[in-house]
Formats: sequence, structure tokens, C-alpha cells
Amino acid sequence: MKTILITGGAGFIGNHVVRRFVRKYPDYKIVNLDNLTYAGNLANLKDVEKAPNYEFVKADIVDAKHMLEIFKQYNFDGVIHLAAESHVDRSISSPMEFIFTNIVGTMNLLNAARITWENNMENKLFYHISTDEVYGSLGELGLFYETTAYDPRSPYSASKASSDHLVRASFHTYKLPVVISNCSNNYGPYQFPEKLIPLSINNIKHNKPIPIYGKGENIRDWLFVEDHANAIDLIFHHCKTGETYNIGGNNEWTNIDLIRLLCWVMDRKLNRPEGTSVQLITFVKDRAGHDLRYAIDSSKLQGELGWKPSLQFAEGLEKTVDWYLANEDWMNNITSGDYQGYYEKQYTKR
Ligand code: NAD
Ligand code: TYD
Repeated sequence: MKTILITGGAGFIGNHVVRRFVRKYPDYKIVNLDNLTYAGNLANLKDVEKAPNYEFVKADIVDAKHMLEIFKQYNFDGVIHLAAESHVDRSISSPMEFIFTNIVGTMNLLNAARITWENNMENKLFYHISTDEVYGSLGELGLFYETTAYDPRSPYSASKASSDHLVRASFHTYKLPVVISNCSNNYGPYQFPEKLIPLSINNIKHNKPIPIYGKGENIRDWLFVEDHANAIDLIFHHCKTGETYNIGGNNEWTNIDLIRLLCWVMDRKLNRPEGTSVQLITFVKDRAGHDLRYAIDSSKLQGELGWKPSLQFAEGLEKTVDWYLANEDWMNNITSGDYQGYYEKQYTKR
């Protein structure tokens, strides 16, 4: 039986990874370590919380001593590290949390892994989950490759870039077996409604304005979250250590076109006359330092490990909308309390 640590498993992508591993690998014991920030929610894992091969540990990756104790206690065979502060807008207003969790927290985990695996690193793996945002911003043409030079431009992406460097430094300096993947924007069930798609679904449902930064011309490449979880599974089991893999949906949308499509889907689902929701679109002050375009070349992952996205965007978006409409309680619980304060601060002055 292998013991695998997944950090950040109560967050958006983490819960999909935890669920997949708990169900697909009964021979693995999955330890989900999360300190349940505003973005972490154990309700995301209700359907697996009683599984015999699952355990939840509430702990903060910024606490170095605690991390080392936990690593010594469990003697993990592998680590999949997703815990992070993940929202660009929050990194603009409160950058220090990003420095502590994303940089110091990652180094604490690397240190704990190095110390506990010191005498035998064979068959161990420290898998660090990162973002395409470390590569910076593209113009109208071009793609991010694994070899693209880092050029992070927000406190979030700079903190993720720093953590990627520390992971690679641990590989070169200490021979720690590591792998990194850099993925494009994810969407799907259980995403916190601070991010564009779930925020817009929630606002449309409640007939509230849909805030579009600037002119809505920024471009993102969108990937269904379960396709990311599948890529993580493949990379965890079949990667070459020391390597980097880009993961992307080959699915670029300007924000405005994406929101128009979403409005069309929502009108149908809510039985509203076509053209109703689109009237909620409201252009607001642009995000500071707003990256224009992200686009990923994922041919290495596709060629070497045979991965490809399983869903067309229209299908994935429809599935996502269906999930949010069927899980009103989940959204209501999340948007009561602290979320209101965040929303006011982020959007009322725009
Ligand atoms: P999320 O914000 O939904 O979840 C982050 C999780 O980490 C939460 O459960 C939170 O409680 C936990 N966490 C935060 N600080 C912690 C700490 N100090 N100690 C322990 N746990 C802590 O994020 P997400 O969207 O699921 O992203 C997961 C990872 O994937 C991140 O590393 C992110 O950079 C990366 N990523 C995200 C996307 C995306 O589109 N969401 C794309 C590419 C890469
Ligand atoms: P987001 O979901 O925050 O992801 P990221 O910044 O990591 O790409 O934002 C996706 C795009 O949508 C980005 O270009 C910013 C834009 N956006 C809006 O126009 N309005 C919003 O309210 C939000 C949250 C994002």
C-alpha cells in the first residue's frame, strides 16, 4: 500500500484529484492536507470522506515544523502539491499571503520530503502543480512551451514562478525526484465563485451585473477540471522525473465571447427568453497589469503520455452550468458570510 499526500485537496482542482485517486486506487492511502482557507471546503469531498483509504489532515504548509512531523509520521511515497493561494485579484490586494503559502509553504514541503526521503529516494515523487501564468502574457500569436522563459507579471504568478524554481533547485541540488506541470485556466464543478465562470453563473442566476474587466478582449485557454485531474494522474504515474509538462485545452476564448456563450446557455437552462442574460454584461475597470493572452502547447504531454482533453468546451460549459444549478446549497453556503465582504470590496468601486 502506498501513502500519497495531496495538499490543497479541499480546493477546486484538489477535490477532483482526491476523488479520482481515492476511487481509482484502492491500494493507495490518500492523505489530504489542507488548512481550509476561504477556498477550502470539506463539503467538496462529502462523497469520499468515509472511504477507508482516505484521511483528512488540517494543517498549514507554512508551518515548517508541523510539515516535517507529518512527513515523518506518514512516510509518504509521493506528494501531489496543489495547496496555494490561487486568485490573481486577491494577490493584487493582499500579496503577502501568496508569498507565505506559495513560496514558503512549497519550500517547507520540499524540505520535509528531502529530509524524510534522504536515505532512499527511489520510487518517490514530489509533484508540483503550477500554472501557465508563470510564462507571462502572449500577444496575438504564439504559444507557451515548456522551454518558454518565465516572465510572471502578477504577485500570484510571481509566487508560483518562485515555487517552480525552488522545486527545480531541489531536483538539481538535492536530487529530489520532482516533476512540474503548468496548466491553463480550469473550469468545472466546485470552483470558488471569485473566478470568472462560477462568479458569472451565480450573478446571472440572481440577475446581477456580470463584471467584465476592461473591454473583455483578454484571452484565456480553458480546460475542464477533470481533464486536468486525468493529466495529473498520468503524469504522476508515467512522468520522467525532473521534467516539466504543459497542460492545456487548445481552447482559447476572449472573455467577452465566453460570457456571451455562457449567457446563451443560462437563458436556455433558466427558461429565459434568448438575449436576457447578455444584458447583464457590465464593463468595469480593468485589472491592474492584466495579462492579455495565455495559450499552451501541450504536445509533449499528448505525444509522450497520450493525454488529450476529453470534452469540447460547449459540452463542458453546459455540464458546469448544470452542476451549479443543481447545487444551489453549495453556492449559497459559500456566498453567505465572508464572500459578501470580498465582493463589495472587489467590485463596488470599479
Ligand atoms: P483553490 O484556491 O481552489 O484551492 C487551494 C486549496 O489550498 C484550498 O483548499 C486551500 O484551503 C488550500 N490552502 C491554501 N493555503 C494553504 C496553506 N497555507 N496550507 C494548507 N492548505 C492551504 O485553488 P485551485 O484552483 O484548486 O488550484 C490548485 C492548484 O492548481 C494551485 O497550486 C494553482 O496555482 C494551480 N492551478 C490552478 C489553475 C486554475 O485555473 N484554478 C490553473 C493552473 C494551475
Ligand atoms: P480568473 O477566473 O480570475 O482567472 P485568471 O486571472 O487566473 O486567468 O479570470 C479569467 C479572466 O476573466 C481574466 O482575463 C480576468 C477576467 N475577469 C473578468 O473580466 N471579470 C471578473 O469578475 C473576473 C473574476 C475575471
